[in-house]
Amino acid sequence: MILESTDFYTRLSKSLLPKDYRNKLLDLMRRSNHENKIYCKKNKKYNMIHNASDRLIKNSISSDYFLLSMEEILIDDPKYLSMFTGLLDFLNLSSDNVVKIIIVTFLPDNKGNVKPHIDEFPGCAINIPLDSIKNPIIWVDDNDKPIKKYFYDDYPTLIETEKKHTVEELGDDKRVFARIVLNTSYPDIIKNLGELNA
Ligand SMILES: [Fe+2]
Repeated sequence: MILESTDFYTRLSKSLLPKDYRNKLLDLMRRSNHENKIYCKKNKKYNMIHNASDRLIKNSISSDYFLLSMEEILIDDPKYLSMFTGLLDFLNLSSDNVVKIIIVTFLPDNKGNVKPHIDEFPGCAINIPLDSIKNPIIWVDDNDKPIKKYFYDDYPTLIETEKKHTVEELGDDKRVFARIVLNTSYPDIIKNLGELNA
């Protein structure tokens, strides 16, 4: 179920998700209206929020980091949330560990980069590519020098978001992920898993 694990990312098997997860989630994304979307415009604070819960706003990454626009859809329907149970169970995580589950789209409105940053929330995230994600996530040192590069290759991946990271040269690609935002740190999750499998 773990295909590769480093201090920065852990690549997980797609078999932890239902077979049709991609189509179902893309379909949900296409059907969702403004009620449950949160927008973040280039270099601005969230400028349009419709019925978004306080929880969602508080835990969102500050848009100051981004040179591009993004859009979040909160997944709160139990029918869809149940799709992620296999993944969470495998990582020994419960709903207490989950801050939110979203579909996030990074919109290529200026062919920009995501500046090197540490995500604002304490914890880490599972990113599940829903579109082909061509560009790698790159972790950098204090001087923004690359130290680790990861290509998703379509795999669900536990990502260390408390280490500084960036995405370069987004080009014309839209990046669409389902994302489980967790309130537990990456090293804690990995340590826990190791003990379980010892
Ligand atoms: Fe990030």
